[in-house]
Amino acid sequence: MSLSSGTQLGEAVLDRVTELASCSESPEHLTRRYLTPAYKDAAAKVKAWMEEAGMSAEIDAAGNVVGRYEGEQPGARALLIGSHIDTVRDAGWYDGNLGVIAAIECVGVLSRQGRRLPFAIEVFAFGNEEGSRFPTTLTGSRSVAGTFDPACLDAVDDEGVSVRDALVAFGGNPARAGDIGRSPEDVHAYVELHIEQGPVLEDRGLAVGTVTAINGASRFELRLSGMAGHAGTVPMALRRDALVGAALMISAIEEIGRGGDSVVATVGMIEALPGSINVVPGDVTFSLDVRAPDDGHRLAAVAAIKSRCRDIADQRGLELEIEQKHEASHSICSPWIMDQFDAAVARHDIKPFRLPSGAGHDAMSFSELCPIGMLFMRCGGGISHNPEENVTTEDTDVATRIFLDFIERFEPQD
Ligand code: GLV
Ligand code: MN
Ligand code: MN
Repeated sequence: MSLSSGTQLGEAVLDRVTELASCSESPEHLTRRYLTPAYKDAAAKVKAWMEEAGMSAEIDAAGNVVGRYEGEQPGARALLIGSHIDTVRDAGWYDGNLGVIAAIECVGVLSRQGRRLPFAIEVFAFGNEEGSRFPTTLTGSRSVAGTFDPACLDAVDDEGVSVRDALVAFGGNPARAGDIGRSPEDVHAYVELHIEQGPVLEDRGLAVGTVTAINGASRFELRLSGMAGHAGTVPMALRRDALVGAALMISAIEEIGRGGDSVVATVGMIEALPGSINVVPGDVTFSLDVRAPDDGHRLAAVAAIKSRCRDIADQRGLELEIEQKHEASHSICSPWIMDQFDAAVARHDIKPFRLPSGAGHDAMSFSELCPIGMLFMRCGGGISHNPEENVTTEDTDVATRIFLDFIERFEPQD
């Protein structure tokens, strides 16, 4: 492929993103959760594409697909590039997948030109960035970054299948998932191309932007117990209705989120039992996700939410358990990587622009191992985690070219 011709690079990326979208748990929409047969099909396709692009490739102990393109000297220190191929339920096609395919296409261009760089390139398609099957997240990228927590192997999905058993059935190796972390001396940096998943770039009329930091996140499960009873006979004043308690808590969570400094707080899942039209709900479980660019603001919001929820439970005669499921501090992108992304953006006649990431990304897992950086690409209406997610061929083309330009001129700072 000639790089001077039209939008061929963007077209090549989107053709493969479209092909990958056929690897789904459902024929009607895209759902590809970690270690499902659909995930396995996608991993096999990605591995084949890595090999076709001139990389040696394997599926590792944690179920990540890993491709390596050697530098001028075999065994050289590597620039790590990646994103994820697991999805939320009823997902868009571009979240994670676009970054993986764009990285493979960039290596494909270098390999077809017979070019080796002074450093190796490792491309990763990570599993379980989303946490959409198991109540644990960033499993694949944490294993590569050396911060894998073996406790995550005990997390179970809705069918009671643990990460450990799913990994064995997939062909991975739970006993080794904690042993495949890279060492700081093996890597120069980790970088990721991802759709913005928000409206800022579209609002600014920009195809791409350089990420400054990724919001920290706290996730919890809240379990409320009251007393189930007959909807016709239990007087209102004598009820211990767990769902009414949950409704009051959700309102309080929204109010605290709105009042915090750039805090966002979301209840995305709720289940009320026993779940009958004529029964007062006795048990409710709901999720809570709190994020902010500043860890202090996030932790203050979490503390306020816990305290208000406990007060509401007391007032309503309900028992409340709060279990933490995930905790990640904010991750700062390295200034020298931001500068190199800005320079690549400017070389493509786009005004460099910096923005923080509200969404979580695999890059977070690497911030303790090595310098990190991200390039965001505009998506239509800022819509994501939704089948309406959309990108243009022109934006995909220029974002991939800028990413390739960044790689070609990458100057490690170590
Ligand atoms: C992942 O997409 C997240 O930010 O929840
Ligand atoms: Mn993503
Ligand atoms: Mn996502």
